[in-house]
Amino acid sequence: MPAQTFTVNGEKVTVDAPDDLPLLWVLRDLLGIRGPKYGCGIDVCKACTSHLDGEAFNPCAVPVAEVAGREVTTIEGLADGDTLHPVQEAWLEQDVAQCGYCQAGQIMAAVALLKRTKNPTDAEIDAIANVCRCGTYFRIREAIKVAAARVG
Ligand code: FES
Ligand code: FES
Repeated sequence: MPAQTFTVNGEKVTVDAPDDLPLLWVLRDLLGIRGPKYGCGIDVCKACTSHLDGEAFNPCAVPVAEVAGREVTTIEGLADGDTLHPVQEAWLEQDVAQCGYCQAGQIMAAVALLKRTKNPTDAEIDAIANVCRCGTYFRIREAIKVAAARVG
């Protein structure tokens, strides 16, 4: 089995895995990093949204060989020690989560959006299109606006 080496949450890791194994399986099953959730496995729901070299991506749709030498960040790598990321703080203040299943992906998508767009419009926020079966979209919008005012 080939050795796959990449960086995740600031740490260099090497795992034995077939080149075409989706990264989500590597993260969750081989590395025990379970913040990125398995929803659809086909690049639709975005429950697994994480960052690849600082941009949002869905690791269920990327073979592990494609991230060789690159930097993967999951929700576990977002806080700075005990200090939450401003988007995480805003999420708590706005009490966004219901069941919570989609929320790691929502937060990672929001962080990536705010990197690209300082003060996103409602349409730009809705365009991230991460699915939430609990319907927390209104509070997601509010939390992103609160975070935007702080990080902008
Ligand atoms: S699990 Fe649905 S997009 Fe990755
Ligand atoms: S909070 Fe339940 S699916 Fe989004």
